Amino acid sequence: MHPAGGSALLEVKIDQKFFVTAAGERLEVLRDVHFALERGDVAAFVGPSGCGKTTMLRIIAGLERDYRGHINHPSGIRLGMVFEEPRLLPWRSVEDNVRLVMRDVDETRLSDLFSALELAEHRTHYPGELSLGLARRVALARAFAIAPDILILDEPLASLDKILAARLRNELIALVDSRLLTTLLVTHDISDAARLGDRIFILSAHPMCIAAQIPIPIPRKVRTERDIEAIQFEVGQRMKENAIPQDGS
Ligand SMILES: Nc1ncnc2c1ncn2[C@@H]1O[C@H](COP(=O)(O)OP(=O)(O)OP(=O)(O)O)[C@@H](O)[C@H]1O
Ligand SMILES: [Mg+2]
Repeated sequence: MHPAGGSALLEVKIDQKFFVTAAGERLEVLRDVHFALERGDVAAFVGPSGCGKTTMLRIIAGLERDYRGHINHPSGIRLGMVFEEPRLLPWRSVEDNVRLVMRDVDETRLSDLFSALELAEHRTHYPGELSLGLARRVALARAFAIAPDILILDEPLASLDKILAARLRNELIALVDSRLLTTLLVTHDISDAARLGDRIFILSAHPMCIAAQIPIPIPRKVRTERDIEAIQFEVGQRMKENAIPQDGS
């Protein structure tokens, strides 16, 4: 836990978020979502489908401004976000989708990024030619290309087959660890949370709040399969205690 107003890199205090539905009803989506992250923290968020995870990430990213509360981070900070759908520009090649967001294009860094994400041979392809797994990789490359201080990932491994998801997860771990990035990762999969997170947040629905926070003291690099199983078990237990359904895993 970090003291409020301390040295946190990111402080999230969302008191309340409503949407007005098409039928004109007020839907309370988020309530008292309060937490803080230090530089380099990887926070993994798990919660039921439709509970408000994307809404929370959009507020943190500054894309959704109609809410009660505040988000604090040092000014000038760079924020990279990967959305649930890859959102690439279809008329630009893979390479140009990534180049577009770079302020000063450093060719070595660009090549390193493409090779870290196994995209080197796809640089000249267009988004329409890519599988979902490849498009996800390009979206990740684009988020990393801006050299972010805070990286926001909304289900980056969803709908990929197990082998591909595992490969991309390892690439993601290597990139996050090499840059001391503060990362927020939303996932349906508690195994991803157990493998990637330094802290796991369990979210409840209607309205979404933080039901439990589990710190993971074992560093990612030395986490064994047994450790991961134990973490998954604990997350599962805490979800059960809080009557939160586990979907998608
Ligand atoms: N622009 C909007 N207007 C009205 N309701 C919305 C809007 N965006 C989201 N909602 C509603 O807010 C709730 C939370 O949506 P959100 O997309 O944040 O959930 P989520 O946890 O990311 O879901 P998923 O697991 O499916 O990705 C849902 O009930 C959704 O229908
Ligand atoms: Mg979502």
